Amino acid sequence: MQISPVIRYYVQKPKRFRAGANILSSPGEFFAKSFGEGSVITLLAAPGRVNLIGEHIDYHGLPVLPMAIGRRITVAYRPRQDGRVRAVSDGHPGLREFDLTAGLQPDAPGDWVNYLKGAALAVSFGWTIRNGIDAAITSDLPEAAGLSSSSALLTGFALALLAANGIQPTFADLFRILPEAEHFVGTRGGGMDHAAILASKAGCALLVGFDPPATAPIPIPPAWKFLVAHSLRGAEKSGELRAAYNGCRQAGTRALEKLGIPSYAAALDCTEPPKLEHLGEAERRAFLHVTGEGTRVREAVKALYEGNATRFGALLTASHKSLRDQLGVSTPALDLIVETALGSGALGARLTGAGFGGCAVVLCLPDQVERVRQQLVADYYSKHPEFDEANHLFAVEPSAGALSLPLRPCR
Ligand code: GLA
Repeated sequence: MQISPVIRYYVQKPKRFRAGANILSSPGEFFAKSFGEGSVITLLAAPGRVNLIGEHIDYHGLPVLPMAIGRRITVAYRPRQDGRVRAVSDGHPGLREFDLTAGLQPDAPGDWVNYLKGAALAVSFGWTIRNGIDAAITSDLPEAAGLSSSSALLTGFALALLAANGIQPTFADLFRILPEAEHFVGTRGGGMDHAAILASKAGCALLVGFDPPATAPIPIPPAWKFLVAHSLRGAEKSGELRAAYNGCRQAGTRALEKLGIPSYAAALDCTEPPKLEHLGEAERRAFLHVTGEGTRVREAVKALYEGNATRFGALLTASHKSLRDQLGVSTPALDLIVETALGSGALGARLTGAGFGGCAVVLCLPDQVERVRQQLVADYYSKHPEFDEANHLFAVEPSAGALSLPLRPCR
């Protein structure tokens, strides 16, 4: 297993962040406004991610190919002498508080404090920690957009708690415990998001394997440009879509059990196609999606190594069709975005993340980007007055994960 470097400490000039909901001058100022002036605080960043391909297969143990993006959650924190946690977020009003005790209980479903409690729980799986933190969280990552803002929050908060207690975790430790903690908010996801958020490398996609756990950065040709296009419908996994998301996982698992195949990795290696007629409709579709997507990831990795953008794009589009037709997790808005992008010259496009709303990712060559962007505005966004280009239609670069980003002291 490739172990990413532990957190490195060095000073960098504080940067001004654009907040998710409000425009704040900086995380440090937000902290001072919330908890008082005069203390030394530390800034820690956890990026969002775009999944390039490999959707709804991580929880079945099949490799996926995400990349971290430049938009991120920033936690400005100060260690406390007791076990209390106090936190504010620029995206949600009000202070959240709890004690780091055994038997933490979740708050109301959908409340952002559950991600902080999940982080505290995750940390308690691996370490004994005594010091809580005061934390001000800012973000330029759209929420419920399929860009992993919630996992970035959970991961960033876990890293802040660990750092405040003088603990430097390895990637292997974190990859083991963070997905478990996500179950605190009710989803039965896989480990893709945490792997991408932690271990991505600038300029690379991250091939993430689960059995055995492993990550491998694969350089993305600089001419491959990725646009993220928000469908303007939220995909809030911790809310009402939780059951639909968990249902995809259950259908795929039941299919495997009924077929008597030990794992989806084994299913991909079957020489004879299994007979699916005894499966229920949802199980059959889930099985076809998972095995098809697993094969597409293998082919996409090959296309990426070969620098074959056309082939890579075609695989993205095929992935979208399978998510739409087999798994049923797309929406008319996402389908329209994908069709518009393809019709205006994009090499490939697909929904990214869990689906049910959220964003599409679009692959273009440099001279296609502007045309695709303009066509998306003309055909889709112009009909939506809530469209805000900076947060709904933007380019993303393959970026470094949290373990490669510095902790920054800030006064
Ligand atoms: C969410 C989960 C991931 C993964 C995707 C779908 O983002 O957190 O683990 O299952 O959905 O690919």
